[in-house]
Amino acid sequence: MVGRRGDTTYRRVLDSLIPFNQEWARASSLLVAALAEERADNGVPQDGPVYDTGLAVAQLVLQTHALGLHAHQMSGFDAEVLHGSLGVPGGYRALSVVAVGALAPADLLPPKLRERETAARQRRPAAETFFGPAWGTPLPVGP
Ligand SMILES: Cc1cc2nc3c(=O)[nH]c(=O)nc-3n(C[C@H](O)[C@H](O)[C@H](O)COP(=O)(O)O)c2cc1C
Repeated sequence: MVGRRGDTTYRRVLDSLIPFNQEWARASSLLVAALAEERADNGVPQDGPVYDTGLAVAQLVLQTHALGLHAHQMSGFDAEVLHGSLGVPGGYRALSVVAVGALAPADLLPPKLRERETAARQRRPAAETFFGPAWGTPLPVGP
């Protein structure tokens, strides 16, 4: 479900966010709630819809950035509040909320958030992420 700033859906999605996220996400243009169908086949819960929803959000993020905008994914929201206020029927589960908008200058943020936004990013090394010959053995890279 997609809320545009100023509309009811936006307000409801915003209200479901934890206070930390509300603080910065309230400036975004869109708040998108990504929900997966909780399907069970013959009583066996299916992973497919969750996988598909993650893939769909990934495409949303890529397209957003391709358009020169920004997207920020969040798991910090109250799913029960969100389901209730949006009237989501049983059998669906909100997995993430994505804020979409133009990137504003970091100095508009309160000090703590500004610090986080401008800090040097730490990424897990590729050798701990991609395994090749055996589990835990880094994928050989390079020529
Ligand atoms: C599962 C998951 C949940 C997240 N939830 C939040 C969140 O609630 N609020 C938030 O500000 N960032 C959250 N993040 C982090 C952002 O989505 C993003 O990955 C992070 O800010 C790194 O951004 P960067 O690429 O600018 O370094 C979450 C990330 C993951 C993987």
